[in-house]
Amino acid sequence: MTEVTVHVPLDDRAYDVRIGPGLLARAGAEIAPFLTRPRVFVITEDRVAGLHLDSLRAGLAATGIGMEALVLPPGEATKCWSQLTRTVEWLVDQKVERKDIVVAFGGGVIGDLAGFAAAVLRRGVRFVQIPTSLLAQVDSSVGGKTGINSVHGKNLIGAFHQPSLVLADVSVLGTLTTRDFLAGYGEVQKYGLLGDSAFFDWLERNGAAMAAGDEALRIEAVRWSVQMKADIVVRDETEQGDRALLNLGHTFCHALEAATGYDGDRLLHGEGVAIGCTLAFELSARLGLVSQEEPSRVREHLSNMKMKRDLSDIAGELPDADALLLLMGQDKKVVDGQLRFILARGVGQAFVTANVPRDAVRDLLADALAQKTFR
Ligand SMILES: NC(=O)c1ccc[n+]([C@@H]2O[C@H](COP(=O)([O-])OP(=O)(O)OC[C@H]3O[C@@H](n4cnc5c(N)ncnc54)[C@H](O)[C@@H]3O)[C@@H](O)[C@H]2O)c1
Repeated sequence: MTEVTVHVPLDDRAYDVRIGPGLLARAGAEIAPFLTRPRVFVITEDRVAGLHLDSLRAGLAATGIGMEALVLPPGEATKCWSQLTRTVEWLVDQKVERKDIVVAFGGGVIGDLAGFAAAVLRRGVRFVQIPTSLLAQVDSSVGGKTGINSVHGKNLIGAFHQPSLVLADVSVLGTLTTRDFLAGYGEVQKYGLLGDSAFFDWLERNGAAMAAGDEALRIEAVRWSVQMKADIVVRDETEQGDRALLNLGHTFCHALEAATGYDGDRLLHGEGVAIGCTLAFELSARLGLVSQEEPSRVREHLSNMKMKRDLSDIAGELPDADALLLLMGQDKKVVDGQLRFILARGVGQAFVTANVPRDAVRDLLADALAQKTFR
C-alpha cells in the first residue's frame, strides 16, 4: 500500500489527512496550493529538528518554498505559557500575515502548542500539521484541539482550531524510540476498544508486526485510526457528546500523569492511556457491563505488545486511591462536579456516563494500588 488520504468533511473547515511514506520530500507540492507567497513558518523542537528538519527544508525548497524555523525544547513541559508567548512573539516578529501558513512539525506537544499559537495569532492564521510521532499521526494532529497545560492540570488552556492539511509521513516514525512508538500505540488500540471490534481484532493479529516496522501495516493502522477519529469529530466537533468517547482511558490517565508529576521517565501520555483503558474495562466488568474476559483480553493484548497495562508497571510511589480520585476531579470532563467516565459494553462498544458510583472507582483504584505494593 502506498499513500492514502482521509478527508475530514467539516464544511468550510474541511481538510485532508495524507498518510504515506516520503511525504516530507513532497511537502512543498502539498502545501503550495495553500500559500499566497512562497514562505512558511515552522514550529518544531530540538529532537525532531536534528533528525528531520533538513528533509523538510529540502522538500519545501523542491517547489521553491522557503522556511523559517523556531526550534523549542522537546517534552511535555514545552506546552506552557512561556513557550506559547515565545512562539507567538516569534511569529509576530517574522511578520506572519493572516494568509500565511504556520507549520507544526513534531509530536503532539508541538502540534498542540503551534496550533494554539496559530489560533490566537491575529485572531487565527491557518496551519498545517506535520506530525512526527505515532501518537500525533493517529490522534493529536486531527480534530482541531489545540492548547497548553496549566499548573492545575493538562490541556486546560486551549482553542478549537482545525488545520488546513495534515501530512502524516510514516517514514519518520522509524526514528522514534520503541518506547515512544508504543506510547502512540496506546491511542491506536484505544480506537479499536472504543468503537470498532474489527480494528481491535486486526491489531491483535498485526500489532506486533506493525510495531516491528512493517510500513504497509503502519499506513493501515494510521489510516484506520484517523478515519475513526475523523468520523467522530465530524459528528461532534466541539465535544458536546460523542467526541468524549475518544477519551476512553483518559480520566484515569490524566490523574496518573498528574500523580507522576508529568515526568516522562515514569509515565508517557500514551502509556497512561493504555493503563487507563484496562482500568476502564475493569470498572465496566465490576459494574456488570462486560464479562471478566474483556479486561483480560485488553490486558493480554497490551502484554503481547510489551506495553504498560497496570498501575504496578509505573515505577515509584503513587498517591492513595482518594488522592487519585481527587486528581480525577480536575479533569475537563467533570460536569457539575460529577465525574464522567467512558465505559464499555464490550470491545468496540464504549459509551459515556456520569452514572458511576464513586466508591466503585475508589475500590478499583485501591485494589490496583494494593497489587502494586504486593508486587
Ligand atoms: N490535540 C489532541 O487532540 C491531542 C490528542 C492526544 C494527545 N495530545 C497531546 O499530545 C501530547 C503527546 O504527544 P506525543 O506523544 O507525540 O509527545 P511529544 O511531542 O513529546 O513526542 C514524544 C517524543 O517523541 C519525540 N519524537 C517525535 N517525533 C519523533 C521522531 N520522528 N523521531 C524521534 N523522536 C521523535 C519527541 O522529541 C518526544 O521526545 C500530549 O501533550 C497530549 O496532551 C493531544
